[in-house]
Amino acid sequence: MKPKRTASEITGMGAAVPEKVLTNFELAKMVDTSDEWIRSRTGIRERRIAEDNETTSEYGHRAARVALDQAGLSPKDLDLIIVGTVTPDMCFPSTACFIQEKLGAVNAAAFDVNAACAGFIYSLSLADGMIAAGQYKNILILGAELLSRITNWQDRSTCILFGDGAGAAVLQPSQGDRGIVKTYIRSDGRLNHLLKMPGGGTIFPPGQEAHNGECFIQMEGREVFRHAVNCMGEAATKIIEENGFTGDEISLVIPHQANIRIIEAVAKRLDVPNERVYINVDRFGNTSSASIPIALHEAQQRGLINRNDLVLLVGFGGGFTWGSALIRF
Ligand code: UT7
Repeated sequence: MKPKRTASEITGMGAAVPEKVLTNFELAKMVDTSDEWIRSRTGIRERRIAEDNETTSEYGHRAARVALDQAGLSPKDLDLIIVGTVTPDMCFPSTACFIQEKLGAVNAAAFDVNAACAGFIYSLSLADGMIAAGQYKNILILGAELLSRITNWQDRSTCILFGDGAGAAVLQPSQGDRGIVKTYIRSDGRLNHLLKMPGGGTIFPPGQEAHNGECFIQMEGREVFRHAVNCMGEAATKIIEENGFTGDEISLVIPHQANIRIIEAVAKRLDVPNERVYINVDRFGNTSSASIPIALHEAQQRGLINRNDLVLLVGFGGGFTWGSALIRF
């Protein structure tokens, strides 16, 4: 198929994760579980956990510095910062504003996107559209999370899944037909009850003792699993077919790293062999909006993304939200 002109391209990527590793064996000392159960049901072996005094914006800042260096930009060159997060430093100001301050990105606008684990794809879609409209030139997008802060460490059905970290990318106007080929985002608010952190908003305002338990991730695991496979399958096949490609032409799939079984089910639906699907859920667990940019950066660092490769990003999250992006590198 003849390559079509793109509006924006990724010119820099970065990631930052905590040093502290929490293994399944350590978790098994905290709740009634086992390494064998966690590995066979999720593919996760270990995850990274931030120190108590660290913040989401610190990890976002570190990831942003790496991405800016790669793009050859200084923070002052940035016009816009968009951060996908469900674990902001504060309810407001936005984590994007905290990262802006840390970077010294004094010429930028900054805001957060709450699309749960689809936050990075939503941010990418927004940034690409704003560059296409000619409104901005140098945009920093991030997925940054400290999920350990909203994890109930006594609930074995959720605490085995999540981890902390951040990933970033710089988007700039493209010079030709390489860059963001297309993005696709969707949501279905009817499924809002399946995956949520109810506390801290207007329904369960902060500071009410009775509602402390609401400040943790709550999830209907099996239902989330079922919808995740359907939504990611739809987002992936739709974007490939509607843009005239076939699964064969995808060089690498970077899926949201939630569960190895979800990833394998989606890969099967796409008819893409497992070796063309990037997986690091075993080492980082589910880092929500950060999982795709961390994986993207890691894949690039490992030399798995070459010039002209067509890379598919696909993710889903609470909301329900889901989406995909096709990128020609
Ligand atoms: O970014 C999106 C975030 N969320 C997800 O991606 C989650 C999607 N869902 C999942 O990944 C899976 O549903 C889980 C990994 C969370 C759970 O796996 P499952 O195969 O759906 O297990 P289940 O919830 O149906 O539970 C099966 C059994 C239950 O015991 P009984 O009732 O059969 O006796 C659970 O109590 O496993 C038990 N169980 C555990 N056992 C050992 C639940 N959690 C654990 C655990 N260790 N950590």
